Amino acid sequence: MAESMAGLKRSCRCTEVTEANVGQEMTLMGWVQKSRNKGGIIFTDLRDRSGIIQIIFEESDCGTENFEKAERLRSEFTIAVTGIVEKRSGAANANLKTGTIEVRAKSLRILSESEVPPFPIEENSKTKEELRLKYRYLDLRRPDLQKNIMVRSQVATMVRQFLAEEGFLEIETPTLIKSTPEGARDYLVPSRVHPGSFYALPQSPQLLKQLLMCSGFDRYFQLARCYRDEDLRADRQPEFTQIDMELSFVDQEDVLDVNERLLKKVFGEIGGIDVTLPLPRLTWKEAMERFGSDKPDMRFSMELKNVSDVVKDCEFVVFKSALEDGGSVRGINAEGQAGMPRKKIDALVEYAKGFGAKGLAYLAVHEDGSYKCSFGKFMKQEELDALVHAMEAKPGDLLFFAAGKNKMVFDVLGNLRLELARQLDLLKKDDFKFLWVTEFPLLEYSEEEERYVAMHHPFTMPMEEDLPLLDTDPGAVRAQAYDIVLNGTELGGGSVRIHQADVQEKMFEVLGFTQERAQEQFGFLLEAFKYGVPPHAGLAYGLDRVIMLMVGADSIRDVIAFPKVKDASCLMMEAPSPVDPKQLEELSIAVEKTEEPQEN
Ligand code: AMO
Ligand code: AMP
Repeated sequence: MAESMAGLKRSCRCTEVTEANVGQEMTLMGWVQKSRNKGGIIFTDLRDRSGIIQIIFEESDCGTENFEKAERLRSEFTIAVTGIVEKRSGAANANLKTGTIEVRAKSLRILSESEVPPFPIEENSKTKEELRLKYRYLDLRRPDLQKNIMVRSQVATMVRQFLAEEGFLEIETPTLIKSTPEGARDYLVPSRVHPGSFYALPQSPQLLKQLLMCSGFDRYFQLARCYRDEDLRADRQPEFTQIDMELSFVDQEDVLDVNERLLKKVFGEIGGIDVTLPLPRLTWKEAMERFGSDKPDMRFSMELKNVSDVVKDCEFVVFKSALEDGGSVRGINAEGQAGMPRKKIDALVEYAKGFGAKGLAYLAVHEDGSYKCSFGKFMKQEELDALVHAMEAKPGDLLFFAAGKNKMVFDVLGNLRLELARQLDLLKKDDFKFLWVTEFPLLEYSEEEERYVAMHHPFTMPMEEDLPLLDTDPGAVRAQAYDIVLNGTELGGGSVRIHQADVQEKMFEVLGFTQERAQEQFGFLLEAFKYGVPPHAGLAYGLDRVIMLMVGADSIRDVIAFPKVKDASCLMMEAPSPVDPKQLEELSIAVEKTEEPQEN
């Protein structure tokens, strides 16, 4: 039976009790972690969000009625205990913050009982994630998740404080907006009042924050909820939170500067991670050529090397045809791995094929200087020697080569590099390597749509010196766009925006937008730009990713209170769900086909 807490006031949280309180009477409330009856004496671990403290019940202190209640305590009962703080009689528990003290109970109230929970509430749970997500509110009682959610709150608070001090205004933007089909797929919300018309949930507040700059707010930020209907991964959720900002009368350097200071403060003061400024920078081109990725993990080197020149005259048809096709041959050196078993190498070759390679060539340099090489029979000895020399390989090293179109070669070697690092345990979670990647290409050619699409979004400003290329070689135009990368994850990105009508028009033209289509989709922005628009630039972080990396979580699910699973459903609420036909009728919606839910 549940008792009331009338007349009781909680003194503090469990682990806020210290040795300084010894001798005092205190009232604590929380959940029973576990309770052990040793016959005549009951030890109960009481837990709240701060941690655990030990309570002792003895009939002589608390009386028969309270003691009998204590005998009924089971895990996850919610209780209130009043008692005297004392130094532990037994051995101190070094694992607990309150390990040298305990509370000798005088009275106990059972505020509510608990059924046996579907899984134990404990750190590093072994329980399957599906079950934990179904009972997410219980999962969230576990100390590791509690910590993540608390760190998240601290970061949000500090970001607000820092940006406010830097002169940013926190402004909310709507989440029922117009669909602008550029970027990921929109989540749509039907309108009842306008049958057949839909709102979109924002993929980001991009256009709205630019309009706020037109309104003169100068420096804006928002912890903005964003929605994207795209395939989920460990670092992607259908709804997620951005730390979103926009600044007027600034250039790229101003944006990077304020953000470097923000990162240093937040990672330093909350994560205890020392961030040295200025952060290193790589241009996109350099990042691709050296690491095969636009978000390189800088915790280890194993850099790519272009050996096209070295193999340009060889007869190995794989290399030869790659070069003839305008591609390249590049390699990486897995130092000291010459002894890698054939099976493991074969698995890596298969892994590489997953990124579009037809194969992966390898060459091991034995300790005696001889080679074991998958393409040795197609090359002369001196050609192999030149290759080994170019790769700076020593006896004991293992080289991998990919040949083909640059994009594929980068993708294969960039991912192979990461896979090798995982296998060789080179990725330390407590090592934090930030970097800016700058000078992204403005446009990307979409084979599917047979046109250029914006790599970031259509409002990103080209680099001034590349403007003439918009007419002659759009693919070569670099953008004033930048990403902030941490340990191989894109934490955030942004750009200087176009604020000149003629450049914007040109951009739409290159993107294959007709005047009408541009007007239809972005008319309100183009209209606003007619009335005095300040030069502006901005950036947005994925808050979830920031927290994930800061706390060393493997997935952003672990830093979001109520996340969704792979098929974008919520296992706890069972959303999405069918709705009452009446609701559909009101919305003038007829559903043509209903599908069986997919596997998670
Ligand atoms: P972008 O699309 O790069 O830029 O998004 C910014 C950051 O948001 C995070 N992010 C996500 N996090 C979790 N789940 C997702 N599905 C997801 N998608 C993106 C990433 C990413 O770096 N308006 C621009 C920013 C700007 O130009 O100012 C924008 O949205 O960490
Ligand atoms: P084969 O001609 O099939 O005997 O292949 C010789 C070697 O070239 C094998 O090790 C293949 O895995 C490798 N190979 C095939 N395609 C590529 C490629 N695009 N890049 C690098 N190596 C390749």
